[in-house]
Amino acid sequence: MPTVVYQLPDGSASSVDVPAGQTVMDGSVRNNLPGIVAECGGSCSCATCHVYVEGASAEAFDEPSMEEQDLLEYLEGARSCSRLACQLVLGATMDTITVTVAQSNDS
Ligand code: FES
Repeated sequence: MPTVVYQLPDGSASSVDVPAGQTVMDGSVRNNLPGIVAECGGSCSCATCHVYVEGASAEAFDEPSMEEQDLLEYLEGARSCSRLACQLVLGATMDTITVTVAQSNDS
């Protein structure tokens, strides 16, 4: 099962096993981790599941959809490595994925 390491806004990190087919957002919400609010429940419309994903972790996922890119474009604190965690579906062959939870989700 893939492991997702969440680097949290308070500087701590949490490591969670997330079943393939679930999203990076699911893994956070189901384990009550702080930082990913996920107001819209994963329908790519609220952008309160903003995370930064870099390097091999970023490459493991498909490119963002137009919908996701549109939301990210106007998001406070967005960087080129920004993603919406509800759009990051874990695959069975993934090992460890590291994401940094954006500070802006709570504001
Ligand atoms: S949970 Fe709303 S956009 Fe991801």
